[in-house]
Amino acid sequence: MRQVAWLAAAALLVVGCRPERNWEHRTERYALEVPAHVASYTGITLEAPTAAEVELGRHLFYDPILSADGTVSCASCHLQEAGFSDPNAASVGVNGGVGDRNAMAVVNLAYDEAFFWDGRRSSLQGQAHDPVVHPLEMASTWPAVEERLREHPDYPQRFFEAFGNLDVDSTQVTRALAAFETVLVSFDSPFDAYFYGGDTDALDSAALRGFELYFGEAECVHCHAGPLLTDQTFKSNGLDGSVTDPGLGAVTGLQADLGKFKVPTLRNIAATAPYMHDGRFATLAEVVEHYNSGVDSLAPNLDPDMHSYEEGLFLTAAEKADLVAFLESFTDAAFLSNSRFAAP
Ligand code: HEC
Ligand code: HEC
Repeated sequence: MRQVAWLAAAALLVVGCRPERNWEHRTERYALEVPAHVASYTGITLEAPTAAEVELGRHLFYDPILSADGTVSCASCHLQEAGFSDPNAASVGVNGGVGDRNAMAVVNLAYDEAFFWDGRRSSLQGQAHDPVVHPLEMASTWPAVEERLREHPDYPQRFFEAFGNLDVDSTQVTRALAAFETVLVSFDSPFDAYFYGGDTDALDSAALRGFELYFGEAECVHCHAGPLLTDQTFKSNGLDGSVTDPGLGAVTGLQADLGKFKVPTLRNIAATAPYMHDGRFATLAEVVEHYNSGVDSLAPNLDPDMHSYEEGLFLTAAEKADLVAFLESFTDAAFLSNSRFAAP
C-alpha cells in the first residue's frame, strides 16, 4: 500500500515536472491553389500537405541547424528571389566547399519523378536527405541533426503539431521539407495570363514575336513544354563535343545516357541565372546564342530534336532579343516575393 502511494506520488512528480504542453497534432490541409489546366495537362492533382508540415518544412528550409557548423541552410543555395536557385554558378557549402553543378530552381517539383541534374533521386523526400550529409553542402550527420532538433526550444512542438509524436527523425525532417517544396508552385506569370488566361494584353509586342519563335522556328517547345515548361525528360542539348560531366549516364551506367541532363523548367528563368548544369551562361542572351549558333553536333547522344540547330538557327539580333523578351514573361513576380515562402 505504501509502495503504491509512493509510486503514485512519483508519477505525479514526473508529470508535474514535464513542461506544460498544450500541443496538438494539427491535421488541417494547407490551402494549395493550382490552376485547373495544370491538373488536366499533367494528369496530377496535387494532394495538399498539412499546414503544420508545410510550416515545419519552411522553418527547416531556412534553418542552418541542418548543417554541420550552423552556417548553411537550404536557402543559402536556393534563394527565393532567384526562383529558389543560386546566383553563383557553383554553390558554396560549409567550410567554403564548392560543388561542381549549379543549384537548381526549386519550383513545381511535386510534379517530377526524377531529381538532380542527373536524376539520381526518385522522390522529393529522398532528395532532401542528400544535401544534409553532402560533404560540400551541409556536411552534417543525421544523428547530430536529430539531436539538435530534439534539444531545440521550439522544434519539438513544431514536430508534434506536424506528426502527432516526438520522433523528430530524418524521415520527419525530409517529409516536412518535401511538404514545403510541394507548395512552391508557380503558374502565375504574364505568359500564363496570355496563354492560359486569354489576356491578350499580358505580353508586349516583343514578347509576342518571341512567343512565335519559341513555338515555331526556334522549336524550344519540343522540350520546354506545357505548363511546367519542361517535358520532364533527360536530354543532351549539345553543350559539349565530348563528355565533361556524364550526367544521367553515371546514374544508369548506360552509354546512351552519357551527357544527358534533366530538361529544366523555364519557370522564372529570368531570375535563375546563371544557366545550364554547370552555370556556364550568365545571361539569357548567351543561352539563346547557344541554341542559335553554339550547338555542338559532336555532342554524345545529342537529342534528335537538336538536329535542326546543328547548322544554326540564323536568328537576327532583333529575333534573339524577342526570344529573350518572351523568356522573361515566365517570371511569376508574386511567387518570387510571396511572404508565405519567405524566411519565417
Ligand atoms: C551548398 C549548396 C546547396 C545546399 C545547402 C542545398 N542545395 Fe539543393 N541543390 C544544390 C545543387 C548544386 C543542386 C544540383 C546538384 C546536382 O544535380 O548534382 C541541388 C539540387 C536540389 C534539388 C533538385 C531539383 C530538381 O529539379 O531536381 C532540390 C529539390 C534541392 N536541391 C533541395 C534542397 C533542400 C531541401 C536543401 C536543404 C536540405 C538543399 N537543397 C540544400 C545546392 C544546394
Ligand atoms: C532537345 C531538347 C531541348 C530543346 C529543343 C531546347 N532545350 Fe533548353 N535545355 C534542354 C536541356 C537538356 C537543358 C539542360 C542542359 C544542361 O544543363 O546540360 C536545357 C537548358 C536550358 C536553359 C537553362 C535552364 C537552367 O535552369 O539553367 C534555358 C534558359 C533553355 N534551355 C532555353 C531554351 C530555349 C530558349 C530553347 C529554344 C531556342 C531551348 N531551350 C530548346 C533541352 C532543350
